Amino acid sequence: MAGVEAGEGKRRSLIACVGDTEHYRGCVGPVNSKAQEAVIDHRIGEYFTDAAATFDTFYDGKRGPFMRWVDRKFRSDVFVRFEWVFEEIGDAAGKSILDIGCGSGPYSVEAANRGAERVLGVDMADGMLEIARRRAQAFKVDGACAFVKGSFPQDAPDEQFDHAIVTGVMDYVADAPAFINTVQKLVRKSAILSMPSKHWFRTPFREWRYRMKDCPVYFFETDEIRRWFSEAGFAETDIRKVPGAGQDYVVIGRNG
Ligand SMILES: C[S@@+](CC[C@H](N)C(=O)[O-])C[C@H]1O[C@@H](n2cnc3c(N)ncnc32)[C@H](O)[C@@H]1O
Repeated sequence: MAGVEAGEGKRRSLIACVGDTEHYRGCVGPVNSKAQEAVIDHRIGEYFTDAAATFDTFYDGKRGPFMRWVDRKFRSDVFVRFEWVFEEIGDAAGKSILDIGCGSGPYSVEAANRGAERVLGVDMADGMLEIARRRAQAFKVDGACAFVKGSFPQDAPDEQFDHAIVTGVMDYVADAPAFINTVQKLVRKSAILSMPSKHWFRTPFREWRYRMKDCPVYFFETDEIRRWFSEAGFAETDIRKVPGAGQDYVVIGRNG
């Protein structure tokens, strides 16, 4: 998996846009400016800007021995869903990928490394976007990646992509149906989302932990997930429970 300082990335064919917002706006269409301040929960962006550097060490394997043990024991699902995402995408060569809530960019950079022609990462946290840009440069795929600040779905791009990746994001989304509706319209092939399930112990514990940090967190049930994906217009919905302690679903909405 990608690490910011690994620097072993392969250079791929350059595409029209480069990894900064101004170029992105100029070459592949503007990000919608429909942002309604009233419905954007800024606590989430602030939380992830503060947590960006720590969060990124998870992907880089640079944590201390105890945290690496915690990650292996309780967060192995993050690696499983990473595999499942790229299994769904298949051969990424020439594809376009929208990475919503891209964070520090592990999925965006991996997609570009696998040959995706255009990758757009959108995130509301400046700190995360900075790391994502550095990661893309380290892997020499910044020519294929653009990272822009935005809160989805209010700041949805005005173009379609082959696939959308939404991992570790729905946990912070208050209006999941609106989010899923917008994603459906933006993908030609499929959208892959991780969605936390409700668990008798982990859910209240996690709610408490995030309340302490003033960051809201949400959990979902399969019935509502299936209904929302169907109502959004996906032709097929595949819901899988990730093995391990994390209790995430990986939900794939396919457009046929
Ligand atoms: C747990 S991180 C996951 C990052 C990355 N997708 C991954 O799997 O490594 C969640 C990210 O989603 C971003 N985020 C949460 N809600 C968002 C929204 N509505 N629009 C854009 N970004 C959002 C946060 O700022 C944060 O960087």
